[in-house]
Amino acid sequence: MTAPRIRKAAIIGLGLIGSSFARALREQKLADEITGSARSASTRALAEEIGVVDRAFADPVDAVRDADLVFLAMPVQATEAVLRAIQGALRPDAILTDGGSTKGNVVAAARAVFGTLPAGFVPGHPIAGSEQSGVLAGRADLFLRHKVILTPVPESDPAAVAGVRALWEAMGAEVLEMAVERHDEVLARTSHLPHLLAFSLVDTLARESTNLDIFRYAAGGFRDFTRIAASDPLMWHDIFLGNKEAVLAALAVYTGELDFLRDAIARNDSDALLGIFTRAKAARDHFTHMLAGTAYAKAMKQKNIEYVVQPGGKLTGTLRVPGDKSISHRSIMLGSLAEGVTEVTGFLEGEDALATLQAFRDMGVVIEGPQNGNLKIHGVGLNGLQPPPGAIYCGNSGTSMRLLSGILAAQAFDTVMTGDPSLSKRPMERVAKPLRQMGAEIQTTGERGTPPVTVKGGKVLQGIRYDMPMASAQVKSSILLAGLWARGETVVTEPAPTRDHTERMLRGFGYEVKVEGATVTVAGGGKLTATRIDVPADISSAAFFMVAASIAEGSDITLQHVGINPTRIGVINILRAMGGDLTLSNEREVGGEPVADIRIRSARLKGIRIPEDQVPLAIDEFPSLFIAAACAEGETVLTGAEELRVKESDRIQVMADGLLTLGVDARPTPDGIVIQGGPIGSGRIASHGDHRIAMSFAIAALRASGPIEIGEAATVATSFPDFPGLARRAGLALAVVEKD
Ligand code: S3P
Repeated sequence: MTAPRIRKAAIIGLGLIGSSFARALREQKLADEITGSARSASTRALAEEIGVVDRAFADPVDAVRDADLVFLAMPVQATEAVLRAIQGALRPDAILTDGGSTKGNVVAAARAVFGTLPAGFVPGHPIAGSEQSGVLAGRADLFLRHKVILTPVPESDPAAVAGVRALWEAMGAEVLEMAVERHDEVLARTSHLPHLLAFSLVDTLARESTNLDIFRYAAGGFRDFTRIAASDPLMWHDIFLGNKEAVLAALAVYTGELDFLRDAIARNDSDALLGIFTRAKAARDHFTHMLAGTAYAKAMKQKNIEYVVQPGGKLTGTLRVPGDKSISHRSIMLGSLAEGVTEVTGFLEGEDALATLQAFRDMGVVIEGPQNGNLKIHGVGLNGLQPPPGAIYCGNSGTSMRLLSGILAAQAFDTVMTGDPSLSKRPMERVAKPLRQMGAEIQTTGERGTPPVTVKGGKVLQGIRYDMPMASAQVKSSILLAGLWARGETVVTEPAPTRDHTERMLRGFGYEVKVEGATVTVAGGGKLTATRIDVPADISSAAFFMVAASIAEGSDITLQHVGINPTRIGVINILRAMGGDLTLSNEREVGGEPVADIRIRSARLKGIRIPEDQVPLAIDEFPSLFIAAACAEGETVLTGAEELRVKESDRIQVMADGLLTLGVDARPTPDGIVIQGGPIGSGRIASHGDHRIAMSFAIAALRASGPIEIGEAATVATSFPDFPGLARRAGLALAVVEKD
């Protein structure tokens, strides 16, 4: 709705908030006339002189006469007295709102005066203060992009609420609604408590006899922590008395935590200290993401990021792509469940693996880092996880949710796991079903068995024999992980070999795993012992550069330290079968995983029928292999790959659509695709927020006739945080465009 036209607005209190409100009303031409009231004669004179209000009065009654909007912006403790004074002069149809930082006491004051509250009464709170105060501190843009919380009461007329909302929105604010009590509880913790601490710390130091020295040497930390101690004392006096109950409750929790911290220091409890500090650092670093309930990495997933890739180019040089995603997830999981400290290097700091990391932090595991791919995980043992404070957010990551299901099924506490819109569409019954057979109580959502997933704690699991209906390492791993807590043996047989990182890493942590052909067996009741993990570069990320160098004439690149686990090398096998020129060197083993440097030179590729036994070994690499197929001579046929339809997007359909947009003949089939090699045009591709789709079409530009634009590319950060940087360094003309 557009903001209501206000003939006369009256503002009681012309400090920072009141005078900013008046300025914003003026600037947005929202009111014909603005009157104000302030106790101080100099404030009134200044307000009139600089034109904040047309007229300023000492008595609020004079200001509100005939006003159709009254905004209370004086210290909250004065609310009752002001309302009592203006009650008789208030127009019955006036909108009466306020900007007070506490709401329960404002509503109570209004009730004391009016009995039944007027329909025009809409309490509100702009979260836009600063340590500055006074009429001169006001700014017309103070509320721009700030939040305003409205706390309507039962008597509030919806039209009045909508009107107040529209006014704030016209001033550029984002308006939320909340119950009065909830507002006061939230603000007690997020605003009132920090102010109390700042006032108290500064006063404590200022009263010490050596205060001059202390202030002289108190640099960054003191200054940053105490900026808000310069806020208006009277206003804060009123806030603390006005929101007494909620502030006392918040203070009780906080002093408890502070006592705990003091004791931890006294008893040299490193784990306790590191636990608090690492959790706090992660929360502070990522708090905007946590607020949005979305992502953890710095790559700003909420932002709408597009790639624009200019045609042509060739790839040269030596590069190392980031750490393996599957191994990074597992390093956190097993490191957390081990006894002792596990050190990880080469960890992938992508959003998916960070979601797993956050989940274990939420369950009380102390994890230092990540810093340049280094982590220290203070394992809590198989029985040391604690209940998380809320739902575990898995973001875009199917691996987090499916593997965690197996772990959580065996815990003493209940949990809920949620995910982003893509993950929320993906099938979870494939793990829930076998886990239920083991005795777990686990619930998926809706007819299609998707997230959220709810896991009941306190169940005793029993080992099972399970013949997997699909080739999925995630399902296999989930059952094996549950098997660590199960009675007896858990035996899983897979229809085709899938990645075996879980099995290898369990052994690395000293846990016995039997592998006989397609069957893996673990027995419950063992323990994991901390170890070192060097995460190889991710072959799935390397794949984009393997295809890119193969298709772009004149290319010659070397990818270092790439994981070449036999269950992952489908992309190498398939590219070679298509005529690709790939040579492996420096083959070695790191922490139970084989790695090599891979040199790729451009080659004339030809279309092939992809052997079905390669499908699980290249399951994540098909989007980029489809680009190779588009650049190859002849037809490429993929079958037996229906799993691609339930990845981060339906990769068969989304790739076919994108290829068709670029003029490539691509025909999807229920379990695969048929692609005719040919020229690649230019155009705009919808990646459907799927990281691997976005990166695949980026490399397609190497052979395109014009630029390729790719939408929704921010999710690339889930698996390959600096893909644009590395791609540019290698020779791709890729620009990142940030949309509003
Ligand atoms: C993964 C297994 C694969 C793969 C995914 C990671 C893992 O999924 O697509 O990106 O780490 O176990 P499925 O096992 O469901 O095929």
